[in-house]
Amino acid sequence: MIIKQAEFVSSNTEVSKLPLADKPEYAFIGRSNVGKSSLINAITGRKTLAKTSQKPGKTQLINHFIINTNWYLVDLPGYGFAQTSKKNRIEWEKFIRAYLRKRENLQCVFVLIDSRHEPQKIDLEFCCWLGEEQIPFQLLFTKADKHSMVKSDQHIAKFRKALKVWFEEIPPIILTSSETKLGCEKVLQHIDEINQNFISPIV
Ligand code: GTP
Ligand code: MG
Repeated sequence: MIIKQAEFVSSNTEVSKLPLADKPEYAFIGRSNVGKSSLINAITGRKTLAKTSQKPGKTQLINHFIINTNWYLVDLPGYGFAQTSKKNRIEWEKFIRAYLRKRENLQCVFVLIDSRHEPQKIDLEFCCWLGEEQIPFQLLFTKADKHSMVKSDQHIAKFRKALKVWFEEIPPIILTSSETKLGCEKVLQHIDEINQNFISPIV
């Protein structure tokens, strides 16, 4: 897919104020600092579309971007940010989970996992919750450029094994890097395929 247009639409904390659910939508989620905003920029080929930061906790709202005038990319705040207050964490839980459950045009959630680490409980639990809620998701392992492919492959294999305990079928996994653009084309291809079959829930 060629990205001809990518624009910021809105930032929200309330599901009721989100843009009209008439276009296919894809959300990026994962631990704070895993590289969600960076990967959105890499995929769209726009360096500053989503705001990135070395400090975790940069993205705080549900950020909608419209791509090629006919689908939405959504940048979400990260989970597992240790420095945030308990109140903030509870708020995150409430509004993100409400968004993921209720957004009727949400086609796929991309769960980002840092390819440099062993499987983390918080990521596995989040995947299980998506499974329980029957929310379709795929796994994007990030920051592949930061270490050897062998290490990435080992961590992916371990994550896959851990998920096997809960899932009969493991969702697709793509290894990515915002630096080298590894995997970006594959993610776009997947989105393109879903877009072809999208029927708007808004009549
Ligand atoms: P929050 O919004 O705080 O939850 O973080 P985020 O998941 O959106 O992460 P963000 O994209 O802001 O990236 C965090 C840091 O990791 C930044 O310093 C990025 O430059 C860096 N980073 C992200 N992706 C990659 C990657 O693929 N390779 C390398 N080398 N660095 C990356
Ligand atoms: Mg971010």
